[in-house]
Amino acid sequence: MRGSTAPRVPTATCVALMLSALLGPSSPARAQDPNSFNRLMKAPSTRNAPPSEDGIHDPGNEGTPLLQSPREAFEQMPKSASGNFVDWVRSLLEKRILPRYDLRKENAEPPVMDLNIVREVKGSMPDVVYPHKAHTEWLDCSNCHPAIFLPQKGANQMSMAQIMLGEKCGVCHGRVAFPVSECRRCHSQTKPAAEKHSAIEQRDANRFIARSDTGRPAGVHDGAVVGRL
Ligand code: HEC
Ligand code: HEC
Ligand code: HEC
Repeated sequence: MRGSTAPRVPTATCVALMLSALLGPSSPARAQDPNSFNRLMKAPSTRNAPPSEDGIHDPGNEGTPLLQSPREAFEQMPKSASGNFVDWVRSLLEKRILPRYDLRKENAEPPVMDLNIVREVKGSMPDVVYPHKAHTEWLDCSNCHPAIFLPQKGANQMSMAQIMLGEKCGVCHGRVAFPVSECRRCHSQTKPAAEKHSAIEQRDANRFIARSDTGRPAGVHDGAVVGRL
């Protein structure tokens, strides 16, 4: 780690280190390519490179060439628009993959929980639907609760900025799950037109009242908004 040699690392350097860790190793050749900073914009020919060229596996290790190339492995999988271009949720649904839930118990089934959590979004973006089902098919409750999210609807404050910085949903999305560029997979619930306007008006009205009463902006627990959650 470059950061560990300096006794104190300024915040800007930390962010730069985080970004370089997220975006992969930077070489002078890549730095000259104006598009190389964004791994989502990789040319199709460089996507899902074989293990010996992916910058993750040791090309000198004799085991590396024995690994199956992702291009070959992913060929028959349902496609997605970014990340490693595989729709893993559909792959699991269509039984193209059969991940083992428990290393020791071959036939252990995950305790799947079918509970959607709708998170209202201010402004014109559709609301976020967080599906427990698509997650608990392969993740344990303890992967998220309580370290990332308290298990209580509305108890966690989340924003797009946090997600982009690798917090909240961004602990996984953009790293091991589909990236934030696929807006509509999370922002999947269109606000009903009539309700939308009255809810927003009501919310704004509540905010105004709360602000004039307490001097502080109101939270999402007010009036019409909580009624819709
Ligand atoms: C990938 C992360 C993730 C996993 C895995 C996960 N949850 Fe959650 N859970 C959430 C999020 C996000 C919320 C919503 C929190 C909020 O709205 O602030 C939530 C909310 C909840 C709630 C509150 C529901 C309510 O109506 O108040 C319960 C209960 C819960 N989860 C139980 C579980 C159980 C049991 C499991 C395992 C079977 C599980 N969760 C797995 C992310 C996860
Ligand atoms: C992995 C899921 C996920 C993806 C992908 C995603 N969002 Fe979000 N987004 C969220 C969550 C969660 C919130 C917070 C909702 C709340 O307030 O509880 C949010 C909030 C927002 C907000 C409200 C203001 C803010 O900054 O918090 C906007 C605007 C937004 N997202 C736009 C986008 C756009 C544009 C994209 C695609 C480039 C995108 N989102 C992709 C999950 C996602
Ligand atoms: C602990 C890791 C983890 C966290 C945290 C997490 N997810 Fe996921 N999510 C996954 C994985 C893994 C998948 C399945 C693989 C994939 O689709 O890339 C998934 C799939 C999804 C899907 C399914 C899309 C579909 O095609 O059906 C949605 C929607 C989603 N996540 C939204 C969210 C939102 C919103 C949050 C934050 C509130 C969140 N996730 C937090 C790991 C996570």
